[in-house]
Amino acid sequence: MTNGRPERIALRGDLLDFTADPGWGAPRPDHPGLRWRPDHWLLVQGGRIVGCECAAALTPGPDWHCVDHRGRLILPGFVDTHVHSPQLDVIASYGSELLDWLNTYTFPAEQRFADPAVAEAGAQTFVDALLRHGITAAVVFPTVHAVSVDTLFAAAQARGMRLIAGKVLMDRHAPAGLCDGDVASTEALSRALIARWHGRGRLAYALTVRFAPTSTPAQLAMAGRLLAEVPDLYLQTHVAENRAEVAWVAELFPAARSYLSVYEQAGLLGPRSVLAHGIWLDEADRRLLAERGAQIAHSPSSNLFLGSGLLDWPALEAAGVRVSIATDVGGGTSLSLQRTLSDAYKIQALRGVRLTAWKALYAATRGAAEALQLGAEIGSFDPGCSADLAVWRWAEGPVALHRDRLVRDLHERLFAWITLADERNLERVYVAGQVR
Ligand code: GUN
Ligand code: ZN
Repeated sequence: MTNGRPERIALRGDLLDFTADPGWGAPRPDHPGLRWRPDHWLLVQGGRIVGCECAAALTPGPDWHCVDHRGRLILPGFVDTHVHSPQLDVIASYGSELLDWLNTYTFPAEQRFADPAVAEAGAQTFVDALLRHGITAAVVFPTVHAVSVDTLFAAAQARGMRLIAGKVLMDRHAPAGLCDGDVASTEALSRALIARWHGRGRLAYALTVRFAPTSTPAQLAMAGRLLAEVPDLYLQTHVAENRAEVAWVAELFPAARSYLSVYEQAGLLGPRSVLAHGIWLDEADRRLLAERGAQIAHSPSSNLFLGSGLLDWPALEAAGVRVSIATDVGGGTSLSLQRTLSDAYKIQALRGVRLTAWKALYAATRGAAEALQLGAEIGSFDPGCSADLAVWRWAEGPVALHRDRLVRDLHERLFAWITLADERNLERVYVAGQVR
């Protein structure tokens, strides 16, 4: 026992994770990358996965604390690669596209986070909400206020979560209460936050450029300098989400070949860069993303809600770009990855492409982890990984129960689960082997 908690835990249930990208194409029971271990014990020691045993063949000995989740689906904790902590305050706001939505709802809500009491309460609510949706790791935008960063990191640390975040950078085209001062003072503030949080426990700092229109070229260059200087920093931003936004960037940066090349010229594209959306990119942009190793955080619920567009996911991957899945709350309308994946399926269906349950769940677990260069720590049940996982009920409510009784194979069952389940199906979430 450590701190009164069992050191060795065995969890029994239906284990599903992935060893590789299942890719596109029709689902098969022996699909490459799929690892399905029904009714198995997952063995956890010191917060890490150490093995797995078939329950019919073995019962763990008396030195294991056994937890019976028989008949439940056990998945690695979901990884949300793009979400805004203050935007729970504006989720489900009616009637606008991106630029109007930012001015009407989002910027006013984010200004309230200057108040430490609002930031503190907002951070706690947000991090608890992630866990209640089975999300154990996330890449998060707080606000421009340092207190929003401190409270968010502290809340994640108190729960042992894997969190990547950083102070939002904005020094133009936003209300005065959300605009940074001069570049030197913003750089000093960013350096202080990096020193406080980057690499502390399971936390990592991301330079957080909101998007090209709200940063001066000098601020973008400062972010590029820090990214080159400080090892292992992440970079997060938005790119090519909405057509009016793309046109605005072309006006603001007339010399740039494309929206993406604004970031390239500032040195912001690298293997730890997470760019949300990427709907309105061209082939040269996709090649550049692939060369730099940067990933696109696909945010399907947000893209539908704000009417932004339908992502050509296969074209990105064909060019060699990694694509992860993100809720993008509050542009997105739910922290449920099941709902988000279901929206991703519908977007691809509108484009004539079918997203399998395998590919969808991979993108929200191991795929995201690998795109974040965290595949050795999260996203799967590989031995050595942190025991960040969620236990799910297969069906909740009469319609889902009815449908679940009729499924003929695993893919059908999982696809119906993605389509019909949400956070109400969550039985329990473990972070580093501890119930949260
Ligand atoms: N682009 C710039 N800021 C935002 C934001 O908060 N949400 C979304 N969806 N897009 C953005
Ligand atoms: Zn966003």
